[in-house]
Amino acid sequence: MRILITGGAGFIGSNLALTLQKDNDVTVIDNLSSGNKENLKGFKGDLIIDDIISMDLSQFKDIDVIFHQAAITDTTVSDEKRMMEVNVGGFRRVLDFALKERAILVYASSAGVYGNGKCPMREDQELLPQNAYARSKSLMDELTIKYKDKIRIMGLRYFNVYGPREEYKKKAASMIYQLAQQMKANKNPRIFKYGEQSRDFIYVKDVVDATLKAIRAKESGIVNVGTGVATTFNRIIKILNETLGTSYEPEYFDNPYSFYQDETRADTKRAEELLGFKARYSIEEGIRDYLTTIKSEK
Ligand SMILES: NC(=O)c1ccc[n+]([C@@H]2O[C@H](COP(=O)([O-])OP(=O)(O)OC[C@H]3O[C@@H](n4cnc5c(N)ncnc54)[C@H](O)[C@@H]3O)[C@@H](O)[C@H]2O)c1
Repeated sequence: MRILITGGAGFIGSNLALTLQKDNDVTVIDNLSSGNKENLKGFKGDLIIDDIISMDLSQFKDIDVIFHQAAITDTTVSDEKRMMEVNVGGFRRVLDFALKERAILVYASSAGVYGNGKCPMREDQELLPQNAYARSKSLMDELTIKYKDKIRIMGLRYFNVYGPREEYKKKAASMIYQLAQQMKANKNPRIFKYGEQSRDFIYVKDVVDATLKAIRAKESGIVNVGTGVATTFNRIIKILNETLGTSYEPEYFDNPYSFYQDETRADTKRAEELLGFKARYSIEEGIRDYLTTIKSEK
């Protein structure tokens, strides 16, 4: 297949590109704003450094599938106009192109759209986006509902993804990455008081699996990509200690954010039905696999 990956030099996009290149003709588009060429070491397809909000997409011909991952991914960015330009405007351009090309479009939405909604989070529950990033993703999902009969489209509400190639996201990388880096640097891991907030953490290998399965979804729509299990930050520190053979105590500090999700946990039924996807890595297995690759802080 001929495949385009926007944001393919980023964390999830590069993991996808490296997996897909074995059997496909893959082109990556990325403006390197939060991604890095280093993520694509070993990638043999084309890397086009350009911006999805301005580049000429008609240069790409006979595309079968587009994986749209490009976005401002730092959820603390409060510039609403810029967030909408890149995330919603970029998506609109890719959607138009996919419609013209009759390509399958699989894009990254986010569990952020649920805000502090009830758990387990179901695709049809009320969306309560609490920041500009989450609002941009919910607008993308609204567009999807509008167009879903005209195109094969699948929106994936990724929960909290962790794993190899996330380091260039820096402060926007997962809590698992941040805490592991602190502990590897012989520091006590720092978390918001009192570490009982929990997240549905999903390993990037499972996310790649779900994203590939989305190509063959039974129908267009929006599905959660999570494990269905939430883990507290205190528990993450415990697992990291066990895996690293250390015994660091958490250091608690005040949460400076007025908006913060206390818990995220996916209802996974729809992903099972529509994609035939179920996460294979438990949090313990994912962290163990990840720590064999993670680099120490420089
Ligand atoms: N990692 C997670 O936990 C998570 C959770 C929910 C949703 N998502 C979504 O998954 C997708 C991938 O996220 P990620 O974690 O790999 O983050 P990332 O920041 O590593 O990847 C985003 C990539 O898009 C590129 N990009 C940004 N703006 C661009 C533009 N205008 N033109 C071209 N490229 C541009 C960046 O350089 C980067 O390589 C994003 O859409 C994100 O919102 C991620």
